Amino acid sequence: MSLLHLSFLAVGFLVLGLCHIDVRQPAVLYAWEGTCVQIPCSYNVLSGIKKLDHFIWYHNPQYDDENKRFDGTVLFDMSNSSKNKRIQFLGQLSKGSCSLLIHRVQVSDSGELGLRIMTPSEKWMARVQLNVTESAPQPHIQLPPRLQELQEVTVTCFLNYSCPNYPVSLLWFLDGQKVPAQVENSFIETEKVLTESKFTFIPNWTHHGKKLSCQLWHTDEQRLSEKIVWLDVKHTPKITIEASPHLEVKEGGSVTLRCLVQSSNPDVEGSFLWFKDQKKIKNWDEILTLSNVNWQQAGNYHCEANNEMGRGRSEPVHLQVLYSPRLSRVLPADISVTENKTVQLMCVTAAYPPPTNYTWYQDEKLMLGETKQNLSFQEVNRQQSGQYTCLAENSEGWGNISERARLDVQYPPTGVTVTIRSQTLIREGDSVTLSCSYEQSNPTVSRYIWRPQFSQRVRYPSNVLTIQSIPWNAEPVTCWACNIDCSQAAPVNLDVQYAPRDVKIILATPKSDIRSGDQVQLRCDFSSSRPRNVRYSWTQNGKSFHEGRYLNWSSISPEDSALYSCSVTNSIGQTKSQEWDLKVQYAPRHLRVSIVPGDVVMEKTSVVLTCEADANPAIDLYTWFDWKGQKIDNYGQKLALRPVMTHQSGAYWCQGANKLGTGKSGPATLTVYYSPETIGKRTALGLGVCLALVLLVLLGFQFVRCWRKMREEQAFQERPRGQGSFFVRKKKIRRPHTTAAPQSLGYYNPALEERIDYATLQFPDRVLSPRYLETSPVSLQTEDQSVTYSVLQKPSGGDYENVMPQAPPEDEGLHYSELIHFGERARPPAQEGVEYVTLKH
Ligand SMILES: *[C@@H]1O[C@H](CO)[C@@H](O)[C@H](O)[C@H]1NC(C)=O
Ligand SMILES: *[C@@H]1O[C@H](CO)[C@@H](O)[C@H](O)[C@H]1NC(C)=O
Ligand SMILES: *[C@@H]1O[C@H](CO)[C@@H](O)[C@H](O)[C@H]1NC(C)=O
Ligand SMILES: *[C@@H]1O[C@H](CO)[C@@H](O)[C@H](O)[C@H]1NC(C)=O
Ligand SMILES: *[C@@H]1O[C@H](CO)[C@@H](O)[C@H](O)[C@H]1NC(C)=O
Ligand SMILES: *[C@@H]1O[C@H](CO)[C@@H](O)[C@H](O)[C@H]1NC(C)=O
Ligand SMILES: *[C@@H]1O[C@H](CO)[C@@H](O)[C@H](O)[C@H]1NC(C)=O
Ligand SMILES: *[C@@H]1O[C@H](CO)[C@@H](O)[C@H](O)[C@H]1NC(C)=O
Ligand SMILES: *[C@@H]1O[C@H](CO)[C@@H](O)[C@H](O)[C@H]1NC(C)=O
Repeated sequence: MSLLHLSFLAVGFLVLGLCHIDVRQPAVLYAWEGTCVQIPCSYNVLSGIKKLDHFIWYHNPQYDDENKRFDGTVLFDMSNSSKNKRIQFLGQLSKGSCSLLIHRVQVSDSGELGLRIMTPSEKWMARVQLNVTESAPQPHIQLPPRLQELQEVTVTCFLNYSCPNYPVSLLWFLDGQKVPAQVENSFIETEKVLTESKFTFIPNWTHHGKKLSCQLWHTDEQRLSEKIVWLDVKHTPKITIEASPHLEVKEGGSVTLRCLVQSSNPDVEGSFLWFKDQKKIKNWDEILTLSNVNWQQAGNYHCEANNEMGRGRSEPVHLQVLYSPRLSRVLPADISVTENKTVQLMCVTAAYPPPTNYTWYQDEKLMLGETKQNLSFQEVNRQQSGQYTCLAENSEGWGNISERARLDVQYPPTGVTVTIRSQTLIREGDSVTLSCSYEQSNPTVSRYIWRPQFSQRVRYPSNVLTIQSIPWNAEPVTCWACNIDCSQAAPVNLDVQYAPRDVKIILATPKSDIRSGDQVQLRCDFSSSRPRNVRYSWTQNGKSFHEGRYLNWSSISPEDSALYSCSVTNSIGQTKSQEWDLKVQYAPRHLRVSIVPGDVVMEKTSVVLTCEADANPAIDLYTWFDWKGQKIDNYGQKLALRPVMTHQSGAYWCQGANKLGTGKSGPATLTVYYSPETIGKRTALGLGVCLALVLLVLLGFQFVRCWRKMREEQAFQERPRGQGSFFVRKKKIRRPHTTAAPQSLGYYNPALEERIDYATLQFPDRVLSPRYLETSPVSLQTEDQSVTYSVLQKPSGGDYENVMPQAPPEDEGLHYSELIHFGERARPPAQEGVEYVTLKH
């Protein structure tokens, strides 16, 4: 039979292969009463066939071998217009479509439908099964082979039915709840006629065993059929913990914890695992029993179990143990804080329920009123330094006293003072030692700062400062002692004592020039001195002179000119001023005329008279007078006579003036004698006349002599003291000049007639200083009334010879040579009836 069938099939394929018409349509179509059926159909006419002649749709066609034709109910005939109202041909020949629509199908419509296609040369029968049931069939649900929790799945619901004239929809329900479909399709195609709906979701363990249904609805009102599946979701064990009697237990009580498996697919395998605070407990049983509970057993517990899908764990449960406070501590345990800052100490304990009442102790002493967990100091002070402990209380009782915590309140040094370690009296330049001390400090002082710094720079200043050499004007000294901060001491005045400073001489009166006879006052000044108590002293040319602040002259004299300096002395020392040159101005004085080369000269030589004087300021105007009192014009300090003539013999004097006044000299006599030539001429002129004159001269001699004596005395008294002159007094008989040099053969000199001769020995002033003067021993001759003095010997050898003649005196006169002392010593008065001899140098 099957072999026959196979051969028939092979023949059929062969026929098909030869056939030139290809028809496509589904094999089976499903419908139920009252719905419609649309048969999708298409054909393809192969090349060579020009025209398609005939279409006939049969219901249950039967081939009649005898007639060589098909018999059956004709549903549709292309060439017979008589129409069945339920049948609608949808095909279009031009498009190759041969679809057929049957309305309001009935069960009797079930069966085989055949499509007969005829061309002039070919005939073809295509068949399709139609299965019409009384009621709508269940849709089909397609599930994946295995559902796992938390893995997304898509389930499909479908039905092999679709007809536009009778629309249906497929709705999803999960555990009775309508859930939306993600995809809804319907197909009417030659390959498939289908309505489908897809639902995507993530199943979890709660979906396990739940109902998933797909319902077939016509429009919204009519539910036609339903397909139900029971979900099998694989998942790990789902566990909870059950405590009995409950999760709060007093210390010493007991509690039981049970690990409950709510759901597991597949079933739990192996033992249970218990954990406290994530740490495994050695217990493999479903039940964990804790008896005689202590406070350390308080914590979070959970349990775990395994199945094929993996490990499931319970939510943790917290086991509360009620216990009195333990392990009390004060935090922070050791704190250093600056005074006046805010500090908070906290009492930390392990206790359940939390403590309600705290007791605080400072250095073992109860602090009244402090019952809070936190002990706060808004502005902590140094008395609050100490050891702190606390005690906590809860409903279960009191704990033990906590460990000690140390609070260290720090503050800058207090009572900082500077003290002087050295002797009480400090003198300028002394080495001074100061020390910086303080009363209290926490922490201890770490460094010191000194001000002012003086010269020495100490890198790490200590509390002792030594100033090597204190300046006179040292500023007050202060120090800072520093720990966390610095505190300053009150500055200490060192009160350095020192000798007077800046000593100087002030001319108080007069304001400018000092003139002879002025009232003069010098004052000694200084800028500062400590102690103030001072003494003044003065020196004149380096010699101690006077004590007192002022130097007063009621009438100053030129002799007071000198270098003065003053010294100011206090108990520390003495300071000397600079030397001050006191210069007294005075009118010219000690005027004197000197004659060069000498006061006895030969005529026609050159003679210079010099007016010598002492004046301050210097003389600015000189005036000369001759023996007649006549003023000689146009000369300065020197009066030059060149050549000198005999008639110019005579006495000359000069006058000098500065701004302070005028001084006058004594007369100086110039003797001019004739030259030998003139004598020769004159002798020849009249010896007789001479003889007569001799008589006259002799007469006048005595008179002139007397006059001369008087004048000399007068002149001598006028001579200034201290004058650098040397006088030799001697009665001397003027020798005739015949024994002298040839040129002294003869001359005229009225003074010579008087037998008086003067010699003046003049030394430059400097020679007069005592160190050049030596007094040779005086030889006193016992000859009656005849004494000779040897007066002066120049140390350098150029002796001044006593001008006494070699022969003993021929007359009754005395020979004196006298040394005038040029000091203040009074000169013995000149004696009468003596002659003076002036030795000229
Ligand atoms: C058309 O159909 C009617 C009824 O089925 C039938 O009697 C008639 O013979 C048909 N006509 C032809 C030409 O086949
Ligand atoms: C029609 O379909 C139903 C269900 O699909 C099936 O049980 C029945 O056997 C079918 N009938 C025919 C004639 O194929
Ligand atoms: C429905 O149609 C599909 C595809 O067209 C086919 O695979 C399936 O077997 C059909 N189901 C039934 C019950 O005929
Ligand atoms: C499982 O999934 C449903 C819907 O997706 C959700 O409502 C439910 O909370 C989920 N249950 C758990 C335990 O995740
Ligand atoms: C803290 O305040 C007091 C009072 O104002 C004051 O005397 C003390 O110096 C302050 N301490 C510090 C470190 O500032
Ligand atoms: C706290 O403890 C002290 C000391 O035992 C007690 O006097 C006080 O009443 C307690 N306060 C409270 C609120 O329990
Ligand atoms: C105590 O102080 C700590 C830290 O400052 C704070 O967290 C805590 O809340 C305070 N406790 C109370 C009871 O005020
Ligand atoms: C208090 O301290 C004692 C001695 O250390 C100890 O035995 C006791 O258990 C402690 N009490 C509490 C409540 O901690
Ligand atoms: C000098 O003169 C001043 C003021 O004129 C006076 O005070 C002082 O005593 C005088 N000194 C002497 C030593 O005369």
